[in-house]
Amino acid sequence: MPPEPAPGNVEKRQTAERHVHQAVQHDAAERHVQGSAPYIDDVREPEGTLHVAPGGSPAACGRIRRLELADVATAPGVVAVLTARDIPNVNDVSPVAGDDPLFAVDRVEFQGQVIFAVVAETRDAARRAVARAIIEIDEEVSLVSVDDALAANADIMADYAFRRGDAEAVLAAAAQRIDGRLRIGGQEHFYLEGQAALAVPEEGGCYTVHSSTQHPSEVQHVVARVLGIADAAVAVEVRRMGGGFGGKESQASGWAAMAALAARLTGRPCKVRLDRDDDFIMTGKRHDFIAGYRCAHDLDGRVTAVAVDFASRCGYSHDLSSSINDRTMFHADNAYYYPDVAIHSRRMKTNTVSNTAFRGFGGPQGMLFAERLMDRIAWALDLDPLDVRYRNLYGTGDRNITPYGMTVEDNIAAEVMRELETTADYRARRAGIAAFNADNTVLKKGLALTPVKFGISFTTTFLNQAGALVHVYQDGSVHLNHGGTEMGQGLFIKVAQVVAEEFGIALDRVKITATHTGKVPNTSPTAASSGTDMNGMAAKNAAAEIKARLAEFIARDWQVPVSTILFGDDQVRSGDQVLSFGEVVKKAYLARTHLSAAGFYATPKITWDRPKATGRPFFYFAYGAACAEVTVDSWTGEFTLDRVDILHDVGKSLNPAIDIGQIEGGFVQGMGWLTMEELVYDAKGRLRTHAPSTYKIPTARDVPADFRVAFFDHANREATIYRSKAVGEPPLMLANAVFSAIGDAIHALNPAHAVDLDAPATPEAILFACEAQRAARGG
Ligand code: MTE
Ligand code: MOS
Repeated sequence: MPPEPAPGNVEKRQTAERHVHQAVQHDAAERHVQGSAPYIDDVREPEGTLHVAPGGSPAACGRIRRLELADVATAPGVVAVLTARDIPNVNDVSPVAGDDPLFAVDRVEFQGQVIFAVVAETRDAARRAVARAIIEIDEEVSLVSVDDALAANADIMADYAFRRGDAEAVLAAAAQRIDGRLRIGGQEHFYLEGQAALAVPEEGGCYTVHSSTQHPSEVQHVVARVLGIADAAVAVEVRRMGGGFGGKESQASGWAAMAALAARLTGRPCKVRLDRDDDFIMTGKRHDFIAGYRCAHDLDGRVTAVAVDFASRCGYSHDLSSSINDRTMFHADNAYYYPDVAIHSRRMKTNTVSNTAFRGFGGPQGMLFAERLMDRIAWALDLDPLDVRYRNLYGTGDRNITPYGMTVEDNIAAEVMRELETTADYRARRAGIAAFNADNTVLKKGLALTPVKFGISFTTTFLNQAGALVHVYQDGSVHLNHGGTEMGQGLFIKVAQVVAEEFGIALDRVKITATHTGKVPNTSPTAASSGTDMNGMAAKNAAAEIKARLAEFIARDWQVPVSTILFGDDQVRSGDQVLSFGEVVKKAYLARTHLSAAGFYATPKITWDRPKATGRPFFYFAYGAACAEVTVDSWTGEFTLDRVDILHDVGKSLNPAIDIGQIEGGFVQGMGWLTMEELVYDAKGRLRTHAPSTYKIPTARDVPADFRVAFFDHANREATIYRSKAVGEPPLMLANAVFSAIGDAIHALNPAHAVDLDAPATPEAILFACEAQRAARGG
C-alpha cells in the first residue's frame, strides 16, 4: 500500500535524492495497526518460561521491621521468591550513582520500592502470591514535596549555577521589577507498552535479554553487574518499544536485572511485565519544579537582569537527575537573551520514586519559566506578549551569547516567529479576541505565540557517539543494524532511507533488524533526540565504506577510474557499462571482497566544561513556534483549545511523514503535561493517581479541531545527516503556547493584575486563578 500523503504542507519532494527527504511511512506502520508487531510480551515464550512479579513497600520511608514471605513461597504456582540475599554480586541497578538497589534492604525510601519478587508458573499466580507478603515498616516522616525537601535542606546532590554579570546589583537598582514563583508539575510517561523484560539462560552462563529499553548497552551492563558475570556474557535485544519517552532510558534496567536474576536462580526463561498500577508507582516520572524568580526590565519590556532559583523533586535517588536539572538551566533562557543573569538549581531528595528522563529532559520546565517571564513583563507594561518576546530574542553582537557561554550561531527564532505570525494571522486575531473579551464576562479568549529553541546533543559529551553494522549479502540485499532503538519515533525507517540512498538501491532491499548489543557495542541511549543524527551518520559511514570497496573492485574489473563509478536506481554504472547492484555484489564476492562494515560517528564541535560552566554543549539548536487560541470558561475553569498553528524547524526533513507525526504527537503530549496530567501524592508519599482512572492523558478527542502544522523548511547550517534536524523532543515545548494562551485569557478578567497560574492548568487550577483575578479587581 502506498503511504498516505501526509497532512499540512508535506508533499512528495522532487529532488535528486530518491529515499531521503521523502514521506515514507513507518516501516512497521501496518504491523502496528494490525497488532502483528511484536512487543516484549508478544515474543514467543521459550518452553518453561516463568513469570516474575515485584512486591513493593507499602510505606514511603522507614525501617523494614518485618518481612514475612513464608506464605508467599507456598502459594500455588510459586517457584521461587527473590530478595536481596539472592543477588550474587551487586545490589544496584542505577545508571550513574550506585544508589538504586534492585531490592530494598533494611530500609525503604519510597512507597512501592521493590523489596522482593515472586517467580511463578503464571503471571497471575506470581501477582496473587505477592499479595500474601507481610511487610511491616517503622514509618518515619517522609519528605514528599519539593517544599518539604527545601524546608529540610534535603539536597540530593550539590547545587549548580550559571552566572554572568551582576544580576543582584541590577535587580537592586531596577525601576521595573517582577518577582514570582511558578510551580511546574511532573508527568507520568504512560507508554502504551509498560516496562517489560524476558531473560533466557543460554549455555556457558550466558544470558539473552529481550528488554523494552532505550538503552540496551546499559541493560547489558546492569544485568552483568547484578549477576557478577562479564558484559560479554549478556546479549540484549530490542526490536521495538511501545513508547519510551525517556521512561526507559535508565529505568528499564531494573526489570531486566530482575528477570535475569530469576533466570539465573531457576535456570528457566523468566519474564517481568509490570502491571500498569505497579508501573505508575514503581517507575520515575518527569521532575516537578518550583521556579522562584526575580527579573528587572526596561520600559520597552527588555530584560536587564534575571535571577532564577530552580528546585526539583528528584525522588529518593540520583538516577539521571544531574543532567536533567542541568538541562533545565540550559533552557531557562529558551530563545531569550538575559544580559545579567544568575540561574541556580537545587536538586531535592524526597521519599518518592526516583524521577527520570521525560521528553525534553528538564528543558520544558526551564522554558516554561522563560515564557512566564515574558507574559509577566507584558502584563506589567500592558504590551502584547508577542512584542515582548520579539524584543528579548537572541540577536547579534553581544546579544547572542547564552548564560553558559555558547554563541547562538543559528539564530532563526525571529524568522520562524515572524512567518508564523503572518500565516496564523496573529494580529487580526488578537484584535478579534480583544473585541470578544470586551463583550463577554464569563467566557474569555486567549492567544499566545511562543518560540522553541532546543539544544541538540547530549550534555554528557561522551554520549555523543554511535555505531552501525551493515552487511551486503550476495543477492544485493542489505542487513542494517545500529545502536539506536525504535520506540515509535521512526528512527529505523529514517536510517534505512539513508542506507538505501547511499547504495542507490530500493528501500525494500534494506532489511531493518533489532538493536542488539552483540552487533553494535557500547552504544548510547536513544535519547536527547539524537538517534537519527548519530545512528544515521554511523550507518551512512558503514554503507559508504562497503560502497567504496565495491566501486574500487568494479573499476578494476571494468578498467575505468574509480571516480567514474556511479550508484543509483539499483544499478552501478560507468559510461555505458552497467550492471545491477546485485550483479556487482555477486562479482565482488567471487573476487573475495569484504561486504560488511562497522560504521562510527562522533558528533563534532561540542565541548562542555561543567565545572567552569562554559563551552558549547550543543552541536546546534532546533527551533519552532506555536500559536494557540483558547476559550476559558471563567465560571467552571474549563477551556477549549480552538486553534493551533505550528511552524517547526526540522532542517531539511529526512522524512516529512515521520516528522509531522513527531511534531503533532510531541505537541499533544506537552499539552497533556501542561493542562490535564496531574500527579497527586498524599502527605504520606503515596501516589494517589496510579492508574488511568485517576490520571488523565490527552486522547484523540483533545487534539485541537483546527490544527495546522507546517515545516520551516531550511537546511541545517551544520553538516548533519542530509542537513536534517533532530525532531523527537523539541515539539513537546510548542505546547507552552497553550499554557500562555490560558494565562492570556484569565488575564482578560482583570488586565491590571498578573495571573497566578501554575502548571498543570487543570480546570481546578484555572478556576482558582480566575477567582483570584476577579478578587483582585474587587469582586
Ligand atoms: N516518539 C514516539 N512515538 N515514542 C517515543 O517513545 N520518545 C521521544 C521522542 N519521540 C518517543 C517519541 C523522546 S523522549 C526522544 S529522546 C526521542 O523520540 C528519541 O528518539 P530519536 O532520538 O530517534 O528522536
Ligand atoms: Mo528522551 S527524554 O531524551 O529519552
